Amino acid sequence: MRYSMIAKEKAAALKEKAAVRILSIESSCDESAAAVVENGRRILSSSVYSQVDLHALFGGVVPEIASRSHVQKMDLMVEKALKDAGIALSDVDAIGVTYGPGLVGSLLTGVTCAKALAFAAHKPLVPVNHIEGHICANYLTDPKLVPPFLCLVVSGGHSHLLMVADYGRYQLIGCTQDDAAGEAFDKAARVLDLPYPGGPRLDQLAEEGNPQALKLPIPRTEGKYDYSFSGLKTAFINAVHNQRQKGLSLNKADCAASFRAAVVRMLTDKCMKAASDLGVERIALAGGVSANSLLRREMKSLCEAKGIMLNLPRLDLCGDNAAMIGSAAYFRLMNGELADMELNAIPSLSLI
Ligand code: KG4
Ligand code: ZN
Repeated sequence: MRYSMIAKEKAAALKEKAAVRILSIESSCDESAAAVVENGRRILSSSVYSQVDLHALFGGVVPEIASRSHVQKMDLMVEKALKDAGIALSDVDAIGVTYGPGLVGSLLTGVTCAKALAFAAHKPLVPVNHIEGHICANYLTDPKLVPPFLCLVVSGGHSHLLMVADYGRYQLIGCTQDDAAGEAFDKAARVLDLPYPGGPRLDQLAEEGNPQALKLPIPRTEGKYDYSFSGLKTAFINAVHNQRQKGLSLNKADCAASFRAAVVRMLTDKCMKAASDLGVERIALAGGVSANSLLRREMKSLCEAKGIMLNLPRLDLCGDNAAMIGSAAYFRLMNGELADMELNAIPSLSLI
């Protein structure tokens, strides 16, 4: 029988199975990761190899270096994930993999690895959108969480405000008109000469600074729930350069705190406005920037004040990992969404 027929039959049988275990693979950017997740909610193992040290030398991700490193580490991560979960490849029910969005060379490594494993072990192959994975990190953090909820997705490449109507069903409420939130944090960090990766460093430094030190504009956007960070970034760069040119000493902690406060203010204002206009009862955060300490604190106090329930992903699940991909793959698998050996990487894959 052909691979796709076997995979379809096996996937259909899984709908009756009590414990569905998915081996998942993530390699969209600079983390090589594999995990085993049960029923989309329980992490049996999660291994992540971060390439941060390789890219730090260049101040950002170098795509060729990223692809090569994925090729070197992916097998090891898969082996480790299976070993830590205490299972063999033959015990796995399906294989999930990120096929976009992301860097094409990086994505291709994970996709090729997942295809090879699925073909060799006759397992259904489930294609996963990376952004959906970030949203699903919330199902792993809070296994009782069910849609609907409003989700603020803030990562290095994406900033969206989405209504999660059901598993795999999204409505776009707002999005960034220019840079992503993480990108803005990384650029501001670079201006302050903070080492890569800038976002978390800027966040740390901001804890010691005065958020009112720099006067930064609140950018206007066309859509009332849309974001814009590029004006803010330019104003920040100008303010820092001005101080430097005047020979004034630069308090980096104050600069970091001012920039962080402006970005967080924009994110929380729009998110809370949408929540109140749409009458939502629950908000979730997702993506690398949801690790930001001020964003988490502010959302907690704003939601508490409005009586809105809030889900924050576990800190170790905010950044890229394969467990979130395993969760997303489960819901897609249950919906009968499979890929075959034609699966390719789609660098600009969109969620909606
Ligand atoms: O979701 P993610 O791991 O990768 C993408 O899918 O893009 O997000 C990475 C982004 C980077 O821009 C990083 O600087 C930012 O998330 N980030 C943070 C923090 N932790 C990670 N930005 C601000 N504060 C943080 N604590
Ligand atoms: Zn990501």
